[in-house]
Order: sequence, then C-alpha cells, then structure tokens
Amino acid sequence: EPKYRLDYQAPAFRIHTTNLTFELDDHATRVTNSMELERLGDDDTLTLDGDDLELAALSLDGVALDAKAYQRTKDKLKIFRVPKRFLLTVVTIIDPARNSSLEGLYKSAGTFCTQCEAEGFRRITYYLDRPDVLSVFTTTIHAPKASYPFLLSNGNCIEKFETGSIQTVTWHDPFPKPAYLFALVAGDFDLLEDSFTTQSGRVVTLQLFVDRGNLPRADFAMAALKRAMAWDEQRFNLEYDLDIYMVVAVDFFNMGAMENKGLNIFNSKYVLADSETATDQDFINVEAVIGHEYFHNWTGNRVTCQDWFQLSLKEGLTVFRDQEFSADMGMRAVKRIQDVRIMRTHQFEEDASPMAHPIRPDKVLEMNNFYTVTVYNKGAEVIRMLHTLLGETGFQKGMKTYIHRHDGQAVTCEDFVRAMEDANDVNLSQFRHWYAYAGTPEVDVDYQFDSTTGSGSLTLQQHTPDTPGQSNKPPMHIPIRLEFVNAHGERIQVVSEHAPVELIELTERRQVVHFSSPEEKVIPALLADFSAPIRLRFEQPEDDLIAILNGAHDAFLRWDASQRIYLNALRNAIRQDDSVELSERFIDVLETAIRNQNTDPALLSLLLQPPSEETLAQEYKVIPIAAATRVVAELKSLLALSLRDALLARYAATDWQQRSFNGNAVAIRMCTNAIAQLLAYHHEDEVILRELDKQFSQSNTMTLAMGALAAAVHAEHPAAERYLAHFADQWGHEKLVMDKWLAVQSSAPGSGTAQKVELLTHHPAFDWGNPNRIYALLATFTHNLNQLHAEDGSGYALIEQAISRLNQQNPQVASRLLSPLLKWRSIPEPQQTQLKRTLERLQTLDNLAPDLHEKLSQALA
Ligand code: ARG
Ligand code: ZN
Repeated sequence: EPKYRLDYQAPAFRIHTTNLTFELDDHATRVTNSMELERLGDDDTLTLDGDDLELAALSLDGVALDAKAYQRTKDKLKIFRVPKRFLLTVVTIIDPARNSSLEGLYKSAGTFCTQCEAEGFRRITYYLDRPDVLSVFTTTIHAPKASYPFLLSNGNCIEKFETGSIQTVTWHDPFPKPAYLFALVAGDFDLLEDSFTTQSGRVVTLQLFVDRGNLPRADFAMAALKRAMAWDEQRFNLEYDLDIYMVVAVDFFNMGAMENKGLNIFNSKYVLADSETATDQDFINVEAVIGHEYFHNWTGNRVTCQDWFQLSLKEGLTVFRDQEFSADMGMRAVKRIQDVRIMRTHQFEEDASPMAHPIRPDKVLEMNNFYTVTVYNKGAEVIRMLHTLLGETGFQKGMKTYIHRHDGQAVTCEDFVRAMEDANDVNLSQFRHWYAYAGTPEVDVDYQFDSTTGSGSLTLQQHTPDTPGQSNKPPMHIPIRLEFVNAHGERIQVVSEHAPVELIELTERRQVVHFSSPEEKVIPALLADFSAPIRLRFEQPEDDLIAILNGAHDAFLRWDASQRIYLNALRNAIRQDDSVELSERFIDVLETAIRNQNTDPALLSLLLQPPSEETLAQEYKVIPIAAATRVVAELKSLLALSLRDALLARYAATDWQQRSFNGNAVAIRMCTNAIAQLLAYHHEDEVILRELDKQFSQSNTMTLAMGALAAAVHAEHPAAERYLAHFADQWGHEKLVMDKWLAVQSSAPGSGTAQKVELLTHHPAFDWGNPNRIYALLATFTHNLNQLHAEDGSGYALIEQAISRLNQQNPQVASRLLSPLLKWRSIPEPQQTQLKRTLERLQTLDNLAPDLHEKLSQALA
C-alpha cells in the first residue's frame, strides 16, 4: 500500500469552510464537523479519510444519511451520490486520554493538545486530510473552566462565554489552510505576554503558554521570537499576518515543534531555558526552533505543499532560513560547522542506508518516516546551493517571485525552482537532479601544478552511488567554492582567463579547470563553506593541510583541514593495527593555537574535537567497530598527553563567574568544555582532578557542569560516578535536566553500557510514555556505535525490547529507534548475523506498525 509521487491527482472536492465543535472529555470527546463542500468533477462519490474513529452521526444538508448512502472501511468514509454543493456534518467520538501515539488529539499531563502533521487530523474527524485542500476553519471548544482555563485554537478569538462550570470559546482563522495546520490546546498554564510591532505598524500580541511555575524560563524564547519576527522582515521582507501569535509548550511531544497557524505547539525542551538548567546549546536550539516555526508562517503555511512528497519544499527552505537566522544572530562559522557535522554524520549515513531517499521522495508508505535529515538538512543544503549560485540578491529575487506567485496555494518543489529560474533568467534543469536522486555524490580530485610555467590544473570527476531503486545517475550540478594558499599558509588568488578562481560549477562527469599563478607553491582548498553536500576525495599531504589550516579564509576549510589530519591518523592506526600517531608539526600547530590568546575560542574548541566514531565509520563499507572505538579514545588521550600544559593554561582563563548567554561567554565555555573533554583522559593527575571538580561544582552554569560531567563519563575518569550521583541528587526533580543525565550515560563508549541503560529504564527519571525520556536514554544509545553493536548482543536485545514495547504504544518513536539498526550490512560478523536476526524477529511482531514495517522490509529486501 505505498503511495507514489507520480500518481498525484488533484482533489475532486473543495471544502470552503470547516466548522468544528469540540466537547472535550478524557475518553469520549465529541467532535462535530460541518463542512461546506463543493464537488469539482463528475464523480459523485466523496471519499473522506478517517482513522480509529467512532462515527456518531452523519448528515447532508441537515438530513441524516441512511445506511445505504454511505460506506465505512477501516480508513475511509465514502458518501454516494452527493450534489454539487452541500453541507456535510460528521460527528465522531474519540478517546484522547488513551491516545499514546501523540498524533491527532491527545491528553497528557492534564493538557489536551493536537499534532496533525502529517496525517493526524483524520484521527479527529473524517476529512480530506491532504495538504492541497485548503479551508477556512472556525473552531468552538467546550470544557470545564476549572481544569482548562485556556481553550486555544488557530486564528483570532471571536467569542467566549460561560454556562455554569463550562467555558465555551470560539476561534476563527481567516487564512484558508490544510488540516495538518489545525491545532487545539486546552489546559492550565502560566502566560507570558508581549507584543511586536510589524514593519507596517501592526501590533501583534505574542503569548507564550508554559506549565505553571515555569514563567522565568520563558523569557528567552519570547525574546527569540521577537528577534525572529524582526529578522524575517529585514532579510526576507516577510511580515506576520494575524493579530495574535501563540506558542504553547507541552511536555509530551514526538518532535521538536509544530507550526500550526497562529498556534505553535512546542516540545517544552525547545521553549524553557535558563542558565541554571539549560546549556548554551539548549539556548541556541530554542532560538533555532522558535525561528524555524515562525518562519514556516510564510514558507509552509501561506505557501504550502501540494502533497507530502513535496515536504522539502517547506522544510528544506525553512531549515535554510532558520540556519541563516542563527548565523546572523551569532557565530556564523560555528553554526555552519555544526550543520556540516550533522550532514556528514547523520545525513550521509542515511544516504548510504536502505532507507536512502531523494529530498523529494518518490515512494512513501508511512509519511511519518520521511521527516528525515535528508528532507530537512540535505533539503536545506540544496536551497543553500541555489543561494550560492544566485547570490543573496538573486536568491531574494527568486523568493519574492515564489511568494507572490504562490501565496495561498499548495505547490511543488518544481514551482520553487521555476520561480528561482524565472526571477534570475537562468536555467536550472540540471540542478533539478538534486530533488530527484538519492545518495551522496562523490567527487574525486586530481591536482597538478608546475612552478616553472606557473600553470596548474584541477581535474574533477563526479559519481553518485546507486541507492535502492536508483542506479546509473546522471552528473549533478555541483557548486564548489574554493580558495588557494601558498607554502607559508597565506591566502593567494589564482586566475583562469583573467578571472579569479573562486567557484567551480561542476556539471560534467569529468571536468578540468586550468589556472595560472606566479607563486612557487599553490595549494588548493576545496569546498569552502561546504558549498555542496558531497564527499570530496582529495588526498593532500599533511603540510598542505596545515597550510590550509593556518591560512584559509573560510572557517569551514580550516576546521576541515584539521579533521582530515585526524581522520588520516585514525585510519592509519586501524590499517596498521597500531597506536595512533600525530606528527610533531601538527601538535605544534595545535599548541600554538591554544597558546595564542587571539585564537577564537569557539573555533579552537572545534579544532580540539576529533571526529566521532560515527564520523570515522563513514570511511568504511564494513565498519571496524572495536578498532574505531579504540583509536578515537587513543587519539583523545594522545592529545591530552601532548598538550597537557597548554590546555591547562588555556583552561585557567575561564571566567567562572560569567553566566550570561552572549557570544563571547558562550565561545569561552565551548572551549573550556572541549579542553575538559581531553584533560579527563588523565585519570591520575591531581591538578586536573581539582580543575574538573571546580568546573563541575562551582561553575553555576549548566553548560560547564554538564561539560565536566560528560568529560568524566566519556573518558571513564574515576570522578565520573561521584559526579553522576551528585548531579542526580541536585536535579532529580527536573525532568529536562535529568534527560541530560540519562543521555550522558547511554552515550558512554565503555562496556556494560547496555546493562546500565536497562537499569536506568527503571529509574524514576525515566518514563516509557514520554518521548523526550526515550530519546535521551534510548535513541542516544542507538548512536553509541560501540555499545549498540556489542558482541554479546546486549545492545540489540535492549533496543529490540524497546521497539517491541513501543510498536503499538507510539510507532513514531519506535521508528526513530529502529533507523540506526538498518545498516546491518555494514556491521562486521558476528554482530551482522545477530542484528539481521533481530530485524527479522521485529518483522514478525503482532500488529506491526506501518512505520516499522516500511523500514524493516526496506532493510531486509
Ligand atoms: N513541521 C514540523 C517542523 O518541522 C514537524 C512535524 C513533524 N511531524 C511528524 N509527523 N513527524 O517544525
Ligand atoms: Zn519545519
């Protein structure tokens, strides 16, 4: 029962208005749905979507339908012989308190709330639950006022009254929208209120609803929202459109947040933040997600998707926008490198997995499986490449055309590309392949330079590997930004036909770029700013990499040079089955950077973080798991040993009293944590122990306390157990804080982690019903390469049990735990066979959720 993109058919009916009434009740919420429908074609059968619904009444133009006039199947309601225009009223009864999937209307922790994207609205009422059916919604909610003082839905509140203990509130959203953007919330909250005046002078009321007692932790999110609104006006000339914008934070939520029109619903971990309980990264994430959901108001809501295959139309573009927002708000270079790390680890891994799909998939069984790093993050990289090719001005011209052309419509990725083409008078036909083909393109580079003639050449060859269902792919249009440095590590310019060589548009399978330079030595540095989501294969000698590290202008290039040196050292050690070695020259470069007070502390922190096991794993068809874990740990202790004094000196510069969240303070804390992460490999050093103790207990910020805790746990420092106990004592009552405590333990590479994690599932900090707890403890564990694939099978057993348990309870969460297990073909024996058996057993689960079925059948095919 998969669906195919090319089978798209326009809807046969329009729903002009949708009038919803909710009589909220834990186990029997009554939903009355009156729709003004218009039939567009000749076929007079109306087919509505529905899932797990009890039908209480059904009438057409006020007349109850008799049993012969309609037919119900498991997921459809068909109504025969409908007229051209009519009013259809459907009454359904649903059970929000029993809804543990957190999709549709559910009740958790005393709050009713909804999650309708992608296909959750059909769990509330019968509807044309597809994004290209746009309707004007009016929503009335009845509920006891004492328990639910706030009754919220999309748009503007138009009526509010009380009848005895029952409160009734009606909302009207003037903007036609698809059902996936519908939202309802009923509960008791603390309310933070503010306002924003738009560039055209309209005053918008901003409301942030949080659990009672959490008001002080909401200020940052509110300020971030105002920054996002101002930024979207300045950079994209996009202004907010309603008089009110509401954000509700809930504790039980499958994803990060949801951009429902005028009523965003957020996972509380992306709203609540103060320096005592949140790390700097948490603050950064709050700002990014607040921005992301706000930016959807134009890229997602005003212009939405024709069908779910087009998801990247809104998600890739909106991720690009939130990335740019974060970059403009703070550390652009750090943000870019962090985003590249996500691409290179998780997205490249997905591209190489059995679930590989293009950013615009062609075949989908369970849509929830496609909210992926490919659709989101690779999607954003594709938008970024357009930005690189067209420049900021050209890109904004394209955006303007896109918005003007398609405001109020449900459109496709093709429409977006065409707007970019038309606005800039360019041809992007080859660029469109990025939407159509899965897999990470590989570009091999061959480099020649002759100093006697001053002429050089770069030969580039591209190839995109086969992926399930796709082979023999055409060449892609790949923008490769580049720089050159000389032997002294100074940036230089080289020319080709009198123009400086700064951007290569690789379009052929094989392409040669000639250039000339008077320099003695010319070192090319390719893929500046990670200008394309590709794997570059270019072996450069360490001296050249060091020259790039010292001299490239682009921060990504400098960082990447360090990572290439680390990766070479790790791969050599694995190949020779020997200990890890770094050259004295490279150690000197690091020492100089550490001792130089002018080195940007944030970039220094990135330099001091060698590739993770997961990144190293990317280099292999069959992952040498045990060896990878060994060499990564060895590399860190080697750095700790060789750089001890310099690291300690730099560490001493930390300002322990500085608690505020601002660029420089954040950068210094990043650096302190990166240093701690290395120094903790000195298990017996009293000086270092004192420093770690100080960082852990006296720093007064969660960033530094967590930094010390993670350093100790991951390096298996003897202080780790003491820190863990102390932390649990101090924070046992704070669920979001304890998630960090769970995660740090399940990511420990040492043996016995699976057993420890199993024990932690019985700890009061854990809860099988809350996705945040499961992600913190169990999803984190699925990224612990060494322990997930432990030879004794303990890792597989743990995750198999968790997936079996969650299969029916919450398939979306179960499906997320499954993804890292799909790559069984890249796991060495004897684990490969065990893992394959695990997947085969999961396939035989009773009532296997489609989310799991799709991934398992793909993996075992
Ligand atoms: N549109 C939301 C966002 O990106 C995510 C919704 C996720 N929904 C899902 N069914 N997985 O902000
Ligand atoms: Zn989104």
